Amino acid sequence: GWKMEDVMEEEIKVIKGMVGPDDHVICALSGGVDSTVAATLVHKAIGDRLHCIFVDNGLLRYKEQERVMGTFERDLHLPVTCVDASVQFLSELKGVTDPEKKRKIIGKEFISIFDAFAHELEQKLGRKPTYLVQGTLYPDVIESCPPPGSGRTHSHTIKSHHNVGGLPKDMKLKLIEPLKLLFKDEVRELGRILDVPVSFLKRHPFPGPGLAVRIPGDVTQGNALDILRQVDEIFIQAIKDAGIYDVIWQAFAVFLPIKTTGVQGDQRTHSNAVALRAVTSQDGMTADWYYFEHKFLDDVSRKICNSVRGVNRVCLDITSKPPSTIEWE
Ligand code: XMP
Repeated sequence: GWKMEDVMEEEIKVIKGMVGPDDHVICALSGGVDSTVAATLVHKAIGDRLHCIFVDNGLLRYKEQERVMGTFERDLHLPVTCVDASVQFLSELKGVTDPEKKRKIIGKEFISIFDAFAHELEQKLGRKPTYLVQGTLYPDVIESCPPPGSGRTHSHTIKSHHNVGGLPKDMKLKLIEPLKLLFKDEVRELGRILDVPVSFLKRHPFPGPGLAVRIPGDVTQGNALDILRQVDEIFIQAIKDAGIYDVIWQAFAVFLPIKTTGVQGDQRTHSNAVALRAVTSQDGMTADWYYFEHKFLDDVSRKICNSVRGVNRVCLDITSKPPSTIEWE
């Protein structure tokens, strides 16, 4: 095998050779492992000629913006602009219920914000940025053009397009894809060498459209986003406390757009239900639902109903993939 230190040194040499002294490079950070490791590597090669953007689309998890910005700035010293575009995203999404329409709107808004960022940068620098960093991995490269007869699913192609192709074509940016020969485990190893915190490298994957695919229907209904954030945080924290975070591929809460009757204190309530989902998987293509201990489920369920206003029922998703997908939309 390769020695990861050598791979890193080689990549840095390649990037330094490619990016001229007057060239500037932009990178959209998602908060995920791949874009973070890619940006950290490029930053090591060319310093502050790298310009990163992180977009808060209003569909992020509890305290996500503060948490990832903390890692970017305090731990990694990345030059990153945080754009809070929640209002813009949520106003475009208001009333939209079709899952693919939701995804399209989120993709389109992202491009418009990225475009504005690139133009502002051009004004500031007096020249156009020339390169774009993307955290494309080796499996993404294969999955974007599935070999005929490979049995890759349609939904996976859509997902890959969302990750790989989602930027404006007319900007004519040249691509830097420093991870494109690596598998996920190798990216984590590279991240460790680059001093990306291990807890960050072990984070579960999180979809680009964020909580929008965990609220069936209109994401702006009631307090859905707020409720979902609180429930999700309790669930994830309990999973971490139980020491099982690393054996689970993905775990999250889903907001169920129905109200059911409950009795809390001596009051009857008519509030929302939520579902909990946790799966194990190798690559997200197939997945098995995770067997929690009953005591764990009991504790989590009580904690959620006792501390999240507007929730009086907790369900557990016990379907694998297939037949279900991991996300609910
Ligand atoms: P599904 O729900 O298709 O998800 O079983 C498989 C993996 O892909 C993630 N996912 C997405 N990621 N944009 C993304 O960036 C998307 O539109 C999207 N849809 C699903 C999902 O979280 C899981 O890890």
